[in-house]
Amino acid sequence: MDQGDAPRRFRDAECNEILRGLEAAQKRLPSKYFYDARGSELFDQICELPEYYVTRTERAIMQTHAGEMAQILGSKVRLVEFGSGSSVKTRLLLDQLDAAAYVPVDISGEHLHKTARELAQNYTRFPIEPLVADFTEALTLPQETVESRLTAVYFPGSTLGNFEPTAATQLLRNIRQLVGNDGGLLIGADLQKDPAELEAAYDDAAGVTAEFNLNLLARLNRDFGADFQVNAFKHMARYDHHHGRIEMHLVAKRAHEFSIFGQRFSMQRGETIHTENSYKYTLDGLADLAQTSGFRTSKTWTDAAQRFAVQWWSAIGRTKTLAKAA
Ligand code: TRP
Repeated sequence: MDQGDAPRRFRDAECNEILRGLEAAQKRLPSKYFYDARGSELFDQICELPEYYVTRTERAIMQTHAGEMAQILGSKVRLVEFGSGSSVKTRLLLDQLDAAAYVPVDISGEHLHKTARELAQNYTRFPIEPLVADFTEALTLPQETVESRLTAVYFPGSTLGNFEPTAATQLLRNIRQLVGNDGGLLIGADLQKDPAELEAAYDDAAGVTAEFNLNLLARLNRDFGADFQVNAFKHMARYDHHHGRIEMHLVAKRAHEFSIFGQRFSMQRGETIHTENSYKYTLDGLADLAQTSGFRTSKTWTDAAQRFAVQWWSAIGRTKTLAKAA
């Protein structure tokens, strides 16, 4: 195998991150690679599955309370959405919002631009300014075309739950930086519940989540020159009580060898690649998380069964006396 230039074609950081994960005792892959065009399509299907209560529940909360949320956000809001995907829930908010701009941020450029074009046809009161970016890295927002009164990040879908606690805190601190002292965060978080219900939500009867998980390997084959035999793996989702999270794995159904970036790996039968976590929260846990990242949970909206929470976190930590003096 030509070890010399295979890695060169790819960004060093991406390449290292993938290799480091596969070299670990418990193999893992970065979950951001789920969302190529096919992955984004499958994810949209997951959101409509009968077992996947998350999207439905959050959408119902938005349907009932978007008006009040918009009122709290106030006038001339620059709304920045992290991981916007198809922006379905966002429409409920945008319908009510006095926005200066809507900035959807997503790593899947193709999907993002398609959604942005559709939104621009429906919403003409404010500009739609899509930003193709990895929101786990520091972001630079586009120059404001319309002056805003405050910047608010909208982070629905319990995507926060896909980050390890330390990375989650880091991301929330970045958001705190981005929105400044007058801004805030409107965040969706999935709550702790019966593990059986959780496991069903991440391992549906129709096998869509399985296909989504396996698409990660197909994607690495397509875009990163890997040679996984996708059918040598199967999907697994299990609740981990200790961490309070659903774990997603790809289990080798038989001994398997593959290579990527010119490096060869072997797996035993039953060995797994850990592909995703989905942390589940308590309201107390969310309040702690807000506080350590420079926010206060000012308002919580939930469904009757307390499956899911949407919260408004307002920035704390510094007064704006200095800025006002000018
Ligand atoms: N934020 C979603 C969640 O944790 C992402 C998600 C849903 C997901 N189903 C998945 C990620 C299956 C990987 C595999 O609920």
